[in-house]
Parts: sequence; structure tokens; C-alpha cells
Amino acid sequence: MIVPGDKSITHRAYFFGAFSQGTSRIINPSPALDCLSTIKCLTELGLDFKFDQGDVILTCEGINSLCKPKEVLDAGNSGTTLRLLMGLLAGRPFSATISGDQSLQRRPQKRVSEPLRQMGAEFDLTDESHAPVCVHGNSLEGQFFAIEHASAQVQTAIILAGLQAEGETSCVVPNKVRNHTGNMLKHLDISMRSSSPLQLSVFGLKSPISPFEIIVPGDISSAAYFIVAATLLSGSNISIDNLGVDPGRTLVLDTLSKMGAAVEVENQHLLCQEPVATVSVQYQNRLKGVAIKSRDLASGIDELPILALAGAFCKGKFKVHNASELRNKESDRLSLLVENFKNAGVTIETKEDDFEIEGSLQVQGGSLWKTGGDHRLAMTGLVANLLFNQPVEIDNLDCLAVSYPAFKADLDSMVCD
Ligand code: S3P
Repeated sequence: MIVPGDKSITHRAYFFGAFSQGTSRIINPSPALDCLSTIKCLTELGLDFKFDQGDVILTCEGINSLCKPKEVLDAGNSGTTLRLLMGLLAGRPFSATISGDQSLQRRPQKRVSEPLRQMGAEFDLTDESHAPVCVHGNSLEGQFFAIEHASAQVQTAIILAGLQAEGETSCVVPNKVRNHTGNMLKHLDISMRSSSPLQLSVFGLKSPISPFEIIVPGDISSAAYFIVAATLLSGSNISIDNLGVDPGRTLVLDTLSKMGAAVEVENQHLLCQEPVATVSVQYQNRLKGVAIKSRDLASGIDELPILALAGAFCKGKFKVHNASELRNKESDRLSLLVENFKNAGVTIETKEDDFEIEGSLQVQGGSLWKTGGDHRLAMTGLVANLLFNQPVEIDNLDCLAVSYPAFKADLDSMVCD
């Protein structure tokens, strides 16, 4: 099987397109609503997007052709759209306001505005840290940042600003994060330095980048639901081709392997500088317990809900330490996960931002599954319904479209009665 194109890489391809002069092609872009939010916002800023047999054709006349938008830019549910726009607009000679839906307005943005302020941009944030955000672009000075959060979004916002700044801009993250920005800088031949896997450095661009072609690999965050389901449903045997396996995204594979799952990663190679592989998973035995270290969480923060579902069926304990970042996602994923699991009959304990599940052979289910409008919780609920004694009632399935519009149909087609 294959899964849709990677959402993070697709966003970045569109944003890097804003630095290009000419017409570029993005092959196998993500169908996520989030990426359509990026297209809509960049269109308001003057880029042109066309859809051509599943590809996206992007035309831009260089970063200086970007114009002040007439309306408030609507990032919808997409944190990546909002944060990367903050970085892109930090260096533009105009002001623009970015907003989004209620979920996005709840999420903290000071972690993005602070470094960009130090580079020279100005921001008006709601309550100091929230959208709507007004960005007053300015001429920027390159800086060195060692940021507090292991966030690829914050790092990428800084790099997008750095490409417009005077001198060098460096950003070091505290723990491993997805490296799609570094991979894309390489693919696009943009001069960059990366003296460690945690650091990215760029210089202000002196001229537009050439138009490019990029093939987007399958999204491991979407594949995670099929992978976990295959480790839990007796008789399963799946193989996913062309899957992105950047080391900053593989917590799901590493954790399942530690739990004893039969996960194989073969035919590893680079596709447009992105590591891709065929990932095969076979049902084998009951998984065993595991403790996920807080320093590894960023390499699978979006996969924690579905990994926790594997934990609910393990032999022993599934422990996660310091998952505070789960609270800052499309919903407070930690609170909702605990509530949904408890209601379904899973034994789960929390202490501040740690949680611990006592695995069991059976989970009763039959309860309400609250998503908070969060696509990752809705997808986890659908996989839970293949495993619990009674199906849960998922309160929102529309949100699946945020990352994977065809998820339910694809899951249904994979499962035999
Ligand atoms: C993303 C980074 C992660 C992830 C999000 C996409 C990206 O967020 O949760 O879904 O594309 O860079 P953080 O960087 O805030 O951890």
C-alpha cells in the first residue's frame, strides 16, 4: 500500500516556492486541508497555484513579488501554516494579520514571535502569545538561537526569516526533530550548514532560487495508524512503499520495535534528499511494555495517541514522561486521551504531564470518544474500533480531512471481516 504525501514536506515545498522565480512542480503533495490552508494564504500573498493530475504547479516571481494581503490570512486548523507564515512575513516590507480556527487560536505562538522579534520583526499577538497575530515585517539581522522547545515549526520559521536576513542565522533545537527543512534546503541547492543534527544555519539569499521539482514521500504520521493496527490485529501483514523515514519522525517504528513488533524497514534510499523506505509490519505476538523518554517525544509527538493505543493492549506498562507538548497541539491531546481511555475502560494514570497505561488483553469500549476536533484523535478512535469489545462513538469525523481526507475509506478497505 501507499499513504498520501507527507504534510510537513508539502507545506515546506510551498513555502520555499515563495523564494523561487519561475514555475515549480510538487509531485504527490499531501491532500490535507492544512496544506490547502497554506496554498490559500500564499495565493493571497501573490503566488499562483494550479492543480495538475494530482501534482501542484506553483509559480512565483521571487520573494520581492509578495504583496500585502487584502484580507486576514486564514491558517484554518494548521499550526504549520501559521508559524511558517510568521517566519516568511517577518522579512517582508508590509504588515499582515494571520488567524485561524478556535483550536489554532488556543495554541502558543510566543515561541515563534520572540526569536523573530530579536531578528527585527514586530508582532502584535492576542494575549501576548496567540492568533490572531499581526506581523510587521522589517529588515532582519541574522542571529544565533538555541531554542527551548524541540519544535521543527519554530526552527523552520526562523530559517524562513533567516533566508531574508543580513548575515547568518542559526537555530539549534534541544532534541531531535524532523529535518525536512534541512533536507529541502539541500534539495533546492540553498547554501546551508548543519554542524550537528540539531542545528541548521542559513544566510540571507542574494537572488531568487531556481524553480524546482520535488517528489513528496508518503506521510509516516498517516501510515502510523495502519502500522499500529497491523501490530495489534492477528493475521495482519502490510507493506507500505515510498514512506518517509526521516530519523526525526521514526518514534512510532522505534517504539513498536522495542515493544517486540515485527517491523522491517527495507530499500532505504534518498528521494529528493528525504530518506524513504518500504516499511513492512506483521502481526506477531502481544506487544510488551515500554517507557518513552521525553527527549524522544518530538520525533513522534503526533503519533503518541496511536502509540498509546498500542500501549493499552501491551503486556506490562506503557509509560510516557513529560508529554507537556501534547497539550499544545490541535487539542489538549493529553487530557482528551486520558479521558477517552478511562471512559473506554483502559487503566491509565497521570501525574502532571507523565502518563502510564497498564496494558490489558481486552478493552471494553462502548463509550463516547471526544476528539476536540483533532484529526489525530479521530483516527485513533477509528483504529480503536477495530480492537475494543464495543465500538466507541467518535464525536467528530469531519476533522479527518485536516490531514487525511480518505482515512476512513482507506482503513475500511484494509480490514477484512
Ligand atoms: C510539524 C512539526 C510538529 C508537528 C506538526 C508538524 C512540522 O510540531 O506536531 O504536526 O511540519 O514542522 P512542532 O514543531 O510544534 O513540534
